[in-house]
Amino acid sequence: MIDLHCHMLPGIDDGARDLPTALKMAELAVADGITLTACTPHIYPGLFENTHTGIRQAVEAFRRELAAADIPLELTYGADIQVVPELVSGLQNKVLPTLHGSRYFLFEPPHHVSLPRLGDLIHNTLLSGYVPVITHPERLSYIESDYPRFLAAAEQGAWIQLTGGSLLGRFGRRVQQVAERFLRDGVTHLLASDGHNLSNRTPELAEARAAAAAIVGEDEARRLVQERPAAVIANLNPAAVAPVPAHQPGWQPAGSSASARRGWFSRLFS
Ligand SMILES: [Fe+2]
Repeated sequence: MIDLHCHMLPGIDDGARDLPTALKMAELAVADGITLTACTPHIYPGLFENTHTGIRQAVEAFRRELAAADIPLELTYGADIQVVPELVSGLQNKVLPTLHGSRYFLFEPPHHVSLPRLGDLIHNTLLSGYVPVITHPERLSYIESDYPRFLAAAEQGAWIQLTGGSLLGRFGRRVQQVAERFLRDGVTHLLASDGHNLSNRTPELAEARAAAAAIVGEDEARRLVQERPAAVIANLNPAAVAPVPAHQPGWQPAGSSASARRGWFSRLFS
């Protein structure tokens, strides 16, 4: 699996607090079946003033530490970019890093304040040749009222990335239900760990991939954590990437008798 969103670099944001934690996170990722992790610290004016150059240097340094510790995890770079002034020119001037230098970049909407011009922002970045990957919209405090706007963003051409832990109930039942809805509605392109630590936000994906598979099936679950992340790394045109299958017929919310039965059957035959 490839994890395109993880705060594993030590001491650079609110992710891994030090090198020993970062190394243990890397070990967890490898044990979970992740082969490549994109280190994507926050770029958040006034809070986390990370830079493209600083992130690349931190990835290089951490790569050396992984080699010294004999941990077979490949690394690449990106950033979890909040709304910043001059977003498009920042990408064009390479002040803001995209994922692995591709046309795809992580875009984190404000957690508590709805963006009045989300559609314009998506439009402008797409028009400039970039593909915004909207990170974990299911966790936004205003997602219920704004859900149609994120569907519209996906319709425009933005990609949607869910946090694995959301599907496992790690952020509560409400977030889990919204995450399931994003999957069921056929607008979810990627699943990523958004790992921050070794406790409640680990850099793992296997369990979440299985939870996604119960909703969208094994083939699409694999696309969420392997094929589409690989397409991002290869900088493929989104038109050349496997489209997200539309609405999943017959799907039932977690805990319903139908999904409980399906869970029982998939456990039996897995
Ligand atoms: Fe993040």
